[in-house]
This record gives sequence, structure tokens and C-alpha cells, in this order.
Amino acid sequence: MITNVASSAPSQIETDCLVVVVLDRANNKKTETEKVRGGTAPENAEKAKPAPVVATADKAVHAAAADAIASGEVTGKAFETTLLHRPAGLKAKRLLLLGGGPAKNFSASDLRKLAGAAVRTLKAKSVRSFAFTAPEGAGARIVPDTAVRAIVEGAIIGSFEPGYYKSDRATEEQKIDALTIVVKGDTRALKSSIETGRIIGESQNFTRDLVNEPSNRMTPAILAERAQKMAEETGLKCEVLGPEEIRDLKMGAFWGVAQGSDEPPALIVLRYEPRGAAKGVHLGLVGKGITFDTGGISIKPADGMEKMKYDMAGGATMIGAMRAIALLKPKVTVTAVVMATENMPSGKAQKPGDVQIAMSGKSIEIINTDAEGRLVLADGLTYARQLGCTHLVDAATLTGAVVVALGYVNVGIFASDDRMYERFAKGLKQSGEKMWRLPLDDEYKELLKSSIADMANSGARYGGAIFAAMFLKEFAEDTPWIHLDIAGTAWMEEQKPWMAKGPSGIALRSLVEFVRGWA
Ligand code: BES
Ligand code: MN
Ligand code: ZN
Repeated sequence: MITNVASSAPSQIETDCLVVVVLDRANNKKTETEKVRGGTAPENAEKAKPAPVVATADKAVHAAAADAIASGEVTGKAFETTLLHRPAGLKAKRLLLLGGGPAKNFSASDLRKLAGAAVRTLKAKSVRSFAFTAPEGAGARIVPDTAVRAIVEGAIIGSFEPGYYKSDRATEEQKIDALTIVVKGDTRALKSSIETGRIIGESQNFTRDLVNEPSNRMTPAILAERAQKMAEETGLKCEVLGPEEIRDLKMGAFWGVAQGSDEPPALIVLRYEPRGAAKGVHLGLVGKGITFDTGGISIKPADGMEKMKYDMAGGATMIGAMRAIALLKPKVTVTAVVMATENMPSGKAQKPGDVQIAMSGKSIEIINTDAEGRLVLADGLTYARQLGCTHLVDAATLTGAVVVALGYVNVGIFASDDRMYERFAKGLKQSGEKMWRLPLDDEYKELLKSSIADMANSGARYGGAIFAAMFLKEFAEDTPWIHLDIAGTAWMEEQKPWMAKGPSGIALRSLVEFVRGWA
């Protein structure tokens, strides 16, 4: 998608379709009423009529939209679409009025989604280029740089389609070739905002592509190849360790999972070492890369097992994040460690009751071979520490329990260090990704007890996501560490107006913001 910015009046833009956002100002008033009545005015709240406002200062656009607005058909409800052809007074062939939801608290995150929704609406109609007007007035006060970035990210994320293996896929005819962002300001300075947004959006789609692949086409070796190819293209260093090296490093926990599969495991290391990097900081990104999780001998039920191809999403997120980092070039050292293997039942597979010695020397009793993610990450965290990482972040589709706790909306976030958490939380605001912090109190440590080894890999009946995090914490040791459990959020069961269903690429944007925050 070719993207550029224009600062002319929206009505003067020649395009297949001009998109303007319509915000609803009714909610602002409703809140006032609620304040007065102490929040209990149900009959009044229901009657609150929508107050749609076209979010541009361009009078010609207001005139073109006037009849549609007056008809009452346009309410400004989020993602409502009204398409007008040959709008009078505009140079555009079409005018898309795109509902933006309540004007109150309208954010860059909303804008990102709206850009995605515009792409998805228009490409379904085989429109190939459009102009998106950055909203002005009516409560939409987002600085141009942030707005442009959000629009570009959203448009690219909205372009992604997962139907790669469908022979009748419509990608050629139905794809946006060009996007113009109409925004007030110094268009030359905004070029770099476009570039940043493009890199982040494309990296997120790169991750989604990896996650979308079925396990027969995304083995640990293929994942390593894809990482290597990306590293060559972006100037990262990439190293792939195979079975011998993994055994030589005494990664007993990782090997315990890998031993059951005929596909050789791969430990993928990506290094970004810029000149003039911040001193004393070395960020480590550790990803769970289970290319298929059958559960092993503690085998999973058949129902829904096909989804376990996305059990490498954490690893793919780290690879995608490294791509973005390599291209954005923040001045901080970053190393990614991706632990890639299948989890299979076989005559060579580990069995419940087995004891494995992790790279750190800790012994682990395997109670459930389906709790394999924490095993591979245990050695990944130890290895990242050994490489000299001063701060660790891991991402993993780790537990069904986090889905019970937070559903499909929030990533479960765990942090051993409040200061590191604060830094990460800053990035969350910019990325627009939803994450919810869960606890790591010492009281939970009880759960890890094993009668014959230092710890068990499973056992808690309740609080499963916390148990898994407590287990990992034993391997992060005293290195400040954040754990992201993305089991509920890495795969979308339903499409959204702004995004196809399937792999989401969640956490990549937050990770990239976090890394940039150190430079
Ligand atoms: N990969 C799964 C977790 C998962 C569940 C990911 C749902 C995505 C969606 C993980 O390896 C697993 O099997 N976890 C077990 C742990 C249990 C055996 C302690 C779980 O959550 O059931
Ligand atoms: Mn499992
Ligand atoms: Zn798993």
C-alpha cells in the first residue's frame, strides 16, 4: 500500500473515495445528565438522541453530507458506514461517512481501528485507493504525528487476510493500493510518522503470517528459516541452534518437550546491537514457539486441537518485533530468543512423572506433559540471562486459565519489577493494546511444590495462569521480568470491523513501544 499525506482541504482531494469520520456528541451530554442525576437516568439515557458531527472543518464536506445527516440515517455509531456516490462539491468519486463512536475520549486507538474499518469496507467493494481525513474538532484532538501513525498502522492491519490457501482468494482485485491521509500540518515532517506506522503495521502482519501457517508448513526449522531470511533483509544477526547444541547447553526442560517429536527443535537467536546503544541495558525477548501442541502424552481432546498451530504465536511476535526494531533503529541492545519445537506423543516422548533438569540446574517433575510452554520458556529465560540480558520479557500462549480469567479481550501481564512494569505500561497507552496485570505474590509459590523434585510443572486446580507465571519467575530469578500470557488474544475467533479473524499479532506493538522507550 503506497501511503502519503496531503494537507489540502478534503473536498479538493481527487480520489476514488474520501473517508470522513462522524463522531457522536450525544454521549457528552448524556454524561452531564448522569452527573446531575447521580448516574440513574435510564429513561433519559435511552432517549438521548445521537448528535452526529462530521469531524472536519471543510464546509464543502459538511454540505455534501448534510442530507444524509438530516435523514437520521447517520448516527455516528462506531463503524457505521454510509457511502455516497458523486458527492456534490467534492472532487472525490465517493464519500464514505464512517461512524467513529462517542466524541468524548476519542483516542488514537479508536482512530487506528477506524482506518482498518475503512480499508475493510472499501476493499470489499473493490475500491483500490482512498483518502482518509484525520478527524478534527468535535472532541478529536489527536496530534497530527500520532494520528498519521495510527491511521497507517490501522490501514495495514486491516488489509491482512488469512485465506492464503483458498484457491479463489480475491486478494488481487480486492486490495487497497494507495492511501492518502488528509491532515493539517507539515506534510514533510509527517513522512517519518508514515514510515514508523508502516514498519509497525507490516511487522504485525509479518507475525500474523507466521502464526497463520498450519503446523505442517511451519515446523521449527521453517520458523527458523523465516527468521533467518528476515534477519538478512533487515541487518539483524541470526543464529539457530539445533538438537546437538540444545543438548550441549543442558537444556533439559526444552529437550524434554522436543524429544517426543520427529521434527528437530530450533532455538532461534536474533540480535540487534546498534552503535551508540544505551549503556547497561540489554533487553531480552523470549518467545514460546510450539509449532504444534498436541499436549504430548497428556494428550489434548480432539475438539479444537487444530487451533494449537498458533501455540508459536509468542515466538512469532518476538520475531516480528525484532523486524520492527531492526527497521526503526532505536539505540538500545535487544536479543530475541525463540524456543521452537513441537509437543508430540511418541515412543520417545517424556511421560508424566519424569524428572527433567533445566539448564539452570533446577529439577522439574513433569506432572502434565501439556504444560510444556513453561518448560521451553524456563530454559529460554536462563539462556537469555546467560547472554547478558538485563531485562526480560516473554510472550506465550501459555494457559487456558488466562482465557478463563480475562476472556478474549485482555492479555494477562505479570511483572516481577514495578519500575519495569511502569515502563511497559507507558508503551501500552501508545499501542492501544489491552493488557491486565495479574499478581505474583509469594503465597502462590506453595503451588509449585513437588515431592521428588525442586518443582512440579503443574498441579494447581485454580489460578492456573498465575501458577505458570510463578513457575517462570523461578527462571527469570533476580532479572527484572515481564510475562505476557497471550493464549486468549493471539487468535481471534470472530472478525472485527477493523480486522480479519485469525491471528491477531497481539503484543507486538506494545513490545516495540517498550523497546523504543529505552532509546
Ligand atoms: N498451549 C496451551 C495453552 C493454550 C490454551 C493456548 C488455549 C491457547 C489456547 C498450553 O500449552 C497448555 O496446554 N496449557 C495447559 C496447562 C495445564 C496442563 C496445566 C492448560 O492451560 O490447560
Ligand atoms: Mn500444552
Ligand atoms: Zn502449549
